Amino acid sequence: MNRAVITGANRGIGLELSRALKAQGWSVVGACRKSSAELDDLGVEVVTGVDVGSDEGATVLADALKGKTVDLLINCAGILQSNSLDNLDFDSMRAQFEINSLGPLRITSALLPNLHDGAKVALITSRMGSVSDNTSGGQYGYRMSKCALNIAGASLAVDLRSKGIAVALLHPGFVRTEMTGGNGLIDAPESAAGLLARIDALNLANSGGFWHTNGEELSW
Ligand SMILES: NC(=O)c1ccc[n+]([C@@H]2O[C@H](COP(=O)([O-])OP(=O)(O)OC[C@H]3O[C@@H](n4cnc5c(N)ncnc54)[C@H](OP(=O)(O)O)[C@@H]3O)[C@@H](O)[C@H]2O)c1
Repeated sequence: MNRAVITGANRGIGLELSRALKAQGWSVVGACRKSSAELDDLGVEVVTGVDVGSDEGATVLADALKGKTVDLLINCAGILQSNSLDNLDFDSMRAQFEINSLGPLRITSALLPNLHDGAKVALITSRMGSVSDNTSGGQYGYRMSKCALNIAGASLAVDLRSKGIAVALLHPGFVRTEMTGGNGLIDAPESAAGLLARIDALNLANSGGFWHTNGEELSW
């Protein structure tokens, strides 16, 4: 059975990705800082203590997966903290870099021994990290951290090509979760279904692309 590892699996989009992959017959490893009743109810393997913002968190996950093949890694964990020009909180911005930009790179690097020829890595980014799409300004920490994630994903796609590993940068849409205070255009199950369709279509020829969950190719 194919194994999928999802960070931020305890709630929001990560939880729905875990649920949908389980329903598709994948062997799912839900990684999180702390589990939730909803994740426990899925009956998947849960690895707790995986703070993507710390090296220790990545080691916990790598140790739990030692010797196991990973066919799909979805880096979904992330945070959004609002930073406007008249209220720049550099500690908050640093925290968003640590979790949103360095976190997925840290986790992907820690699991490289598990990823094989034909494996896929998805990075859940945001259209808010697109320079060309930024017409409303603000959100300094979040935008900058997702933009940094996008360029990390572009490098990963180049560096992992020779190993046969494809990489996708995926925007989940505007999704009703805790992150958005319940605001949004779609619910997490719809977002997750689209993200998995994008991952299904991912291959070495289109590796490094940036897509909306609805299939639209996004500009950088
Ligand atoms: N919702 C949207 O409209 C939207 C739009 C664009 C992009 N995204 C991206 O989609 C992803 C999922 O967002 P969501 O809407 O599902 O948000 P959410 O409901 O707030 O869930 C965030 C998830 O990330 C985890 N997380 C936060 N900090 C972490 C850390 N240091 N280590 C490990 N896990 C951590 C949370 O776990 P805890 O319970 O431990 O905090 C939770 O599982 C994020 O990367 C987000 O930026 C969302």
